[in-house]
Amino acid sequence: MLQYKLLKLSPRLLRFYRSTLLLDFPRITSYLPVVGKVLDVGCGVGIVSHRVASERRDLNVLGIDISAASIELARVNYTLPNTRYECKRLEAVTEQFDCVMLLDVLHHIPPSEYDNLFNSVRSLLAPGGYLLVKDIERRRGYISFAMDRYISGCKPEEINLHNCDEMTAIVSQHLRVKSVEIKFRFPFPNYYIVADSA
Ligand SMILES: C[S@@+](CC[C@H](N)C(=O)[O-])C[C@H]1O[C@@H](n2cnc3c(N)ncnc32)[C@H](O)[C@@H]1O
Repeated sequence: MLQYKLLKLSPRLLRFYRSTLLLDFPRITSYLPVVGKVLDVGCGVGIVSHRVASERRDLNVLGIDISAASIELARVNYTLPNTRYECKRLEAVTEQFDCVMLLDVLHHIPPSEYDNLFNSVRSLLAPGGYLLVKDIERRRGYISFAMDRYISGCKPEEINLHNCDEMTAIVSQHLRVKSVEIKFRFPFPNYYIVADSA
């Protein structure tokens, strides 16, 4: 399981690494819903949930992760009045959401679990709700692979990068793909897929 080595070194360094270096927040924010509830699947230690919730006080954010240690840290470090964090799998969530986010999570999930995952996402979307996927292109993803391997401490078999067109095809087996874009954010290209339940 992904356990950030940087977290042991310094939570601030981890926040800088993800929030300042890797994640394009203005772009992520541009995909948020006008109102309502956001589910941040694989929220990790809560960096994105917290940033979303602090920039958009009108949204309610639930962050879930399979790592109990990460959820504990999220609760301690990244709680706001409009955030909640729970250690659970997506299949165990029962509420409905206006936006379900999978940000740099899919490449940590075995492809054999994608069917169940996207079916669960579909069942959790409120009317008008949508899925936002952000992940890293496998093409030139060797930098990401190295970061996951040596900074995040993942085993090679725990890293499953896809290209945007491959992931778009996978998502469209379960949901209606509404938009796709690829944006380079140093040091690799990232793709963003928005899909709803039609
Ligand atoms: C690279 S981190 C991304 C964290 C956060 N989304 C961000 O962008 O900062 C991937 C996270 O996905 C979580 N994860 C992996 N498989 C999961 C699953 N089946 N359900 C929920 N979370 C999962 C991991 O525990 C890890 O915290």
